[in-house]
Amino acid sequence: MSKYIIKGENKIEGELNISGSKNSALPIIAACILNGEKNILYNVPDIRDTNGMLNILEDLGCKIKKKGNKVIIDSSTITKFHIKDELMREMRSSVIIVGALIARFKSATFSYPGGCEIGARPIDLHINGFKKMGINIDENTRYMICKCDRIIPAEIQLDFPSVGATENLMLAAIFTDGETVIRNVAMEPEIEDLEKFLNRMGANISGAGSNIIRIRGVKRLKQVSYNIMPDRIETGTFLCYTAMTGGEIILNNINPDNVLPVLSKLEESGCKIYREPRRVILKSPKRLKAVDIQTLPYPGFPTDMQSIFLSMLTTAKGTALVTENLFENRFKCVPELIRMGAKISVSGSCAIVKGVKKLVGTDIVATDLRGGAALIGAALKAKGTTIIENCQFVERGYEKLENKLQSLNIDFTKEG
Ligand code: UD1
Repeated sequence: MSKYIIKGENKIEGELNISGSKNSALPIIAACILNGEKNILYNVPDIRDTNGMLNILEDLGCKIKKKGNKVIIDSSTITKFHIKDELMREMRSSVIIVGALIARFKSATFSYPGGCEIGARPIDLHINGFKKMGINIDENTRYMICKCDRIIPAEIQLDFPSVGATENLMLAAIFTDGETVIRNVAMEPEIEDLEKFLNRMGANISGAGSNIIRIRGVKRLKQVSYNIMPDRIETGTFLCYTAMTGGEIILNNINPDNVLPVLSKLEESGCKIYREPRRVILKSPKRLKAVDIQTLPYPGFPTDMQSIFLSMLTTAKGTALVTENLFENRFKCVPELIRMGAKISVSGSCAIVKGVKKLVGTDIVATDLRGGAALIGAALKAKGTTIIENCQFVERGYEKLENKLQSLNIDFTKEG
């Protein structure tokens, strides 16, 4: 169990290199199963979730070598198609391994995936898509058993643009004998990164970044080296932390185009933003103005930034309305923020945030990854010291957070 101790009221000041994207690295690691070759990935963030994904691949028989942010994955040695229950429960993205296993071996066994408890998070869209591709799924035992003789090209219409279902179905369709068309897909930049990675391997996919993806089946894939894209949620997190503390920051190794929904809201709240092709500079005003946000699939405002933004709004001038449209339990950090002096009332999928002049440091508990990151933001702003328990959640998605915040003038200690 990790615990963070943060002394508040210090301005963030400095320059930072943003790490590789968690949400891009996870499906790309899973996709390394497809070719049965030795693949090299660069810029892989060294965080709990990527390590969890690598553990699953290792358990299936892959050989993994890690050196800093470089990871070599040899999937020629896979011996099992069964994902262990305890590994599956570690994180939601484990389900994407199913698409890769079924594509290569026509067989995969798995249990219901775990992850942060931010909502019901069903996998019906994944399962329905698999069924359309001719994959038989026996859901009657503790494990779901997927099998087929061959995967057939299909026309799939997703009821909702799910990121995970889009990725899983892209992987499953790689070796079909024809063209699979998936409509109403997620348009997140991480989907484009996955398409680029797969095409570099020799796949024939087009359309990522739009709402229709076409996958023309290929016979085989070759080995590949690939550099994971920068993490847009980490980028947004540090921008909000800086804005909240009244500071100034330069973020390097980023793609500003991927964070436009967050940049636009930060500008609306009074921040000055300067964009360059690979970096962004943020200067904050004396006090932020309240702005309304509502989460939507990309290119809407990202749900992963909602709690962090909400935390930032607790001390903005005025009242803000925050609407969460994707996950039903994404306000779990609110009671902790209230303990610090925030004025927030939640009703269903909406939170009304009345800006206060100051927050006060106290003992609080993180309940999920982005909610935990939101509490860190509040602690940076608060008067006095804040102790945040259960920070292992935060370590799922943020690499070297301790070192990064310390390098930015923040009094931050980690225990455990
Ligand atoms: C991914 C991201 C996560 C982000 C989320 C939404 C990764 C590793 N994680 O999660 O950080 O918060 O996208 O941007 O990339 N749904 C169904 N049935 C399904 C699948 C999803 O009803 O079969 C619903 C979910 O309950 C949720 C919504 O669709 O309400 C979005 O989920 P989805 O896009 O699938 O999120 P993840 O891929 O789990």
